[in-house]
Amino acid sequence: MPVTRGLFLVMEGIDGSGRSTQLHRLAAWFRAHGIPTLATFEPSTGAIGQLIRRYLRGEEPVAAPPDALALLFAADRLEHLAREVQPALARGEVVLCDRYLASSFAYQGLGSAPEFVRAANARALRPVITLYFKVDPEIALARIAARDGERRELFETREQLTRIAAAYDAVFGLADGPAEFPATVIDAGAHPDAVFEACVAACRPLLTPNPGLVPTPLGPEPPGQA
Ligand code: TYD
Repeated sequence: MPVTRGLFLVMEGIDGSGRSTQLHRLAAWFRAHGIPTLATFEPSTGAIGQLIRRYLRGEEPVAAPPDALALLFAADRLEHLAREVQPALARGEVVLCDRYLASSFAYQGLGSAPEFVRAANARALRPVITLYFKVDPEIALARIAARDGERRELFETREQLTRIAAAYDAVFGLADGPAEFPATVIDAGAHPDAVFEACVAACRPLLTPNPGLVPTPLGPEPPGQA
């Protein structure tokens, strides 16, 4: 992977943890401070990401075996890095990605061996920080239920959410055993404004020493972002 100048930040957490809402708020916060910011997500909008979403929605005639799905997520990741993330980082931008590597360990780790997931993702760039939106699965389920008209995807049953929450805890070293990755834990069950403040508090220290970023002083919050 080429040397990057920008900052690569990732948000992880179960469905209904509020990641994507906060990602867009945080992107607006960076931009308001004069820092060009790419907000992106995985599975990506590329061809492999689109294929993955068809599998997740059950639109392919035969379900993909777990190891095949793990490889598709890893392939989508490398494609997404090459197409969007790396070019933005090379331009010195902040890249905020909704779901990344830890999603593969948490989700694909339920059906594939961790070594397999690790090997498939060996070439993927490590983010500078991963924010883990930790939330009670019951709260997440209530939020999912409140989302109008959305189709339920494969992973959104109560049992699955609970298993994935436990898998995330394990990936981030919050259960027994070592962490697969370091993460900053965000209490995602809190009020959205408090969650946002916690995200800002985690990200602000990353900016100052990074010579690749626009050196706008991060003083008081811009209007409407506090
Ligand atoms: P996403 O659209 O982020 O779902 P949601 O908004 O409901 O949280 O992601 C789609 C699904 O893809 C989600 O259920 C998690 C799954 N996923 C994996 O299983 N492995 C991965 O590596 C990634 C990035 C996502």
